[in-house]
Amino acid sequence: GMTTNHRIALIPGDGIGAEVLPPARQVLDVLGRRHGFSLSYTSYDWSCERYLREGAMMPADGIDQLRDKDAILLGAVGYPGVPDHESLWGLLIPIRRSFRQYVNLRPIRVFEGIDSPVRGARPGEVDVVVVRENMEGEYSEVGGRLNRGFPDEIAVQEAVFTRAGVTRVLDYAFTLASQRGGRLTSATKSNGIVHTMPFWDQLVTERAASFPQVAWDQEHIDALAAKFVLEPARFDVVVASNLFGDILSDLAAAVAGSIGIAPAANLNPERDFPSMFEPVHGSAPDIAGQGIANPLGAIWSAAMMLDHLGHPAAARDITDAIASILAKTDIRTRDLGGTATTAEFTDKLIELL
Ligand code: NAI
Ligand code: MG
Repeated sequence: GMTTNHRIALIPGDGIGAEVLPPARQVLDVLGRRHGFSLSYTSYDWSCERYLREGAMMPADGIDQLRDKDAILLGAVGYPGVPDHESLWGLLIPIRRSFRQYVNLRPIRVFEGIDSPVRGARPGEVDVVVVRENMEGEYSEVGGRLNRGFPDEIAVQEAVFTRAGVTRVLDYAFTLASQRGGRLTSATKSNGIVHTMPFWDQLVTERAASFPQVAWDQEHIDALAAKFVLEPARFDVVVASNLFGDILSDLAAAVAGSIGIAPAANLNPERDFPSMFEPVHGSAPDIAGQGIANPLGAIWSAAMMLDHLGHPAAARDITDAIASILAKTDIRTRDLGGTATTAEFTDKLIELL
């Protein structure tokens, strides 16, 4: 039959974002040839550099330019001199919200050949997915500032939890848990946050009734953070609100050994809109332009994209190659204690694919 073609929007962004997307694309093209699909790319220069030049991260019709794409692959944004909230609210958050990407999925594995800073994080044993609510919760636009500059200055920001918004992310997480190890942990703080978090807990209990095959529990976020460090291997799927999930997934990425490896997917599970795939790391201005960034976060994100596009075998080829380069070779980028450049590391990975 005809080869399936996927239309991919590439947004390299700033700094090392532009250095890690070409390796991801090289890997994708190899797998397309092998597994019988093709990818066509449209690149966008949307970035903090564009913001400094033109006053906006993306053009006014930016969201519409992405609408007909099958997926978005993003590098990273962030540039000294541009406030981080401009880059976040000018690009990433509009994409996540316009395309109803209400699931932020962050898998964490401690690979063989990686030294975790955490003693209890033995290779092969830690394999966790954090499911973060990605559209509402604590990251809301409801609130404001009054009396700016006066002694009685005040800032208010309301957390917004809706039955529909919480239920859909819980359903995603419970379904994922039923397909994986059958365990789910809900991050809460209903002892201190007395309105939204008891509501969250109530909805978890309600949805759990539809997934009797999943063993679930809940932990307060502070205790959960401690357990992530002390016994990371005990977790399978963790579901959390926007803020708790953000913090927990960065913590988990650090437990896994390097922020340079961690991937993320912003999913619209209904596929009404394109989903977005991006490494967890930022634009790393301290090493940008040197060609030494670790491309694994972007490459693993590309694997998540292939999985979402209906090519799970191709996605597995990538994660197998990642496991194998780390377990069987000494070639490493500098963040993992090696001397390989981004290009040298990518060449070796492609050889192992
Ligand atoms: P960062 O992730 O860019 O860097 C943190 C540290 O990790 C740096 O020392 C960096 O060199 C290192 N690092 C990160 N990724 C690496 C890789 N692939 N290979 C090797 N080393 C790597 O976080 P930081 O420094 O807090 O933020 C820098 C800029 O990136 C800021 O403007 C921030 O707002 C932005 N940022 C953007 C994100 C995004 O686009 N989603 C996410 C996080 C930060
Ligand atoms: Mg974060």
